[in-house]
Amino acid sequence: MAENEKKTPGAAADVVAEEVTMDKLVSLCKRRGFIFPSSEIYGGLASAWDYGPMGVELKKRIQEFWWRQMTQLNSNIVGLDAAIMMHPRVWEASGHVENFTDPLIDCRNCKHRFRADQIPEENMKTHKCPDCGATQLTEARKFNLMFTTHMGPVEDEGGMIYLRPETAQGIYVNYKNVLQTGRVKVPFGIAQVGKAFRNEITTKNFIFRTCEFEQMEMQFFVHPSEDMKWFEHWKERRLQYYLDLGVRRSKLRFHQHGPDELAHYAKLAFDIQYEFPFGWKELEGIHNRTDYDLKRHTEFSGKDLTYLDEVSHERYIPYIIETSAGLTRTVLVVLSDAYDEEVVEGEKRVVLHFHPRIAPITVGIFPLVKKDGLSELARKLDDELCEDFRTFYDESGAIGRRYRRQDEVGTPFCVTLDYQTKEDQTVTIRYRDSMEQVRVKMADIAATLKKAIKDYRRVGE
Ligand code: GAP
Repeated sequence: MAENEKKTPGAAADVVAEEVTMDKLVSLCKRRGFIFPSSEIYGGLASAWDYGPMGVELKKRIQEFWWRQMTQLNSNIVGLDAAIMMHPRVWEASGHVENFTDPLIDCRNCKHRFRADQIPEENMKTHKCPDCGATQLTEARKFNLMFTTHMGPVEDEGGMIYLRPETAQGIYVNYKNVLQTGRVKVPFGIAQVGKAFRNEITTKNFIFRTCEFEQMEMQFFVHPSEDMKWFEHWKERRLQYYLDLGVRRSKLRFHQHGPDELAHYAKLAFDIQYEFPFGWKELEGIHNRTDYDLKRHTEFSGKDLTYLDEVSHERYIPYIIETSAGLTRTVLVVLSDAYDEEVVEGEKRVVLHFHPRIAPITVGIFPLVKKDGLSELARKLDDELCEDFRTFYDESGAIGRRYRRQDEVGTPFCVTLDYQTKEDQTVTIRYRDSMEQVRVKMADIAATLKKAIKDYRRVGE
């Protein structure tokens, strides 16, 4: 058996240390190549973040899992990838030009800008700035969250366009194209993943709320009489998605929007919330958008966006049930949920308990030592396994330290080759969560790993 970690194989950690904090997460993400501040060598850009080698793999896995669940496992959902830049009339029709605003208040003295709902009531009464104390607050003014830019060589009104604040509109304006070419019939869905942009005033909590982010949205077109049935269906299915990603059930809940929270397009809306280190916050919105969007686009474009049911000959505008998830926000959920600190025989172990299906690396491959042909054997195994798994080869340092490095990036399995491997073609599989080490035949590794990924359950869940 390969040298273990000064600990009885299979034994649980001694003590579970403190709760995850944002500082710890940000620091781990930087240290291990998940997420870096944008343009860091120039001092960074506020609230913009870059995904490093581990982060981009994690984000891709989450996105691929969503895409698979939407388009591969539902024969009546098709995909789309619409342009970020759209005709500016789209945003008039959608209601964003008029309604996508935050009420903002400025302090004339210290120039600080606040969202009106962030100013305590007593300060509002006295017009007293919560920061500098001067009684010089302006009245609330509407501030549109859409970024604008110009298309073409002249920066005039005529060339002004918006960066999309949601991916949804790209789906609505292509609904007829998809109907005519996608061989779909109501009820059907269109799924899309992509960047969205909002000029958010309060961007804090790492990647939780940023000006540039990614959404995974699916718009499901239904007969108006079936809206509630499909709304319930998608509400449950979306919660299940996060459970399948490995997120703990106790950290997820639904929140129904009250009348003052409902977006301008929604008749009914539920959020899926997650308990972040800074409290319960929205992760995904499930909205009954009725026929609002297609009616508005009919009105603004002059095009007929009705649907003809070929069986009943009924012509109508479908209702839309929307599931709108933040991809970058889900990355934060998965990181917060996976993070754990344990004390193992007096030493701190930081571990990310990612579900193996989304871990950036699935299996680490280590020769116990570099010499005596073990490196060559391990590299050969790596060449074989990398066809089916994300592998990482590492031959440097003590084996215990190599395990710890993989724990910190959430690698669920490590395979170690030692002198016994040369004699009987067996290797050790070391499991991240339990730290258990099990000897298996080299020829059985791929099958063992596949089964372990399929059967994975987080301890305690
Ligand atoms: N199409 C509907 C729509 O965009 P939303 O509730 O405004 O609805 C959906 O956004 C999801 O997009 C949110 O639940 C969140 O996960 C993500 N999101 C919204 N604004 C974000 C921001 N500034 N930064 C990161 N994610 C954001």
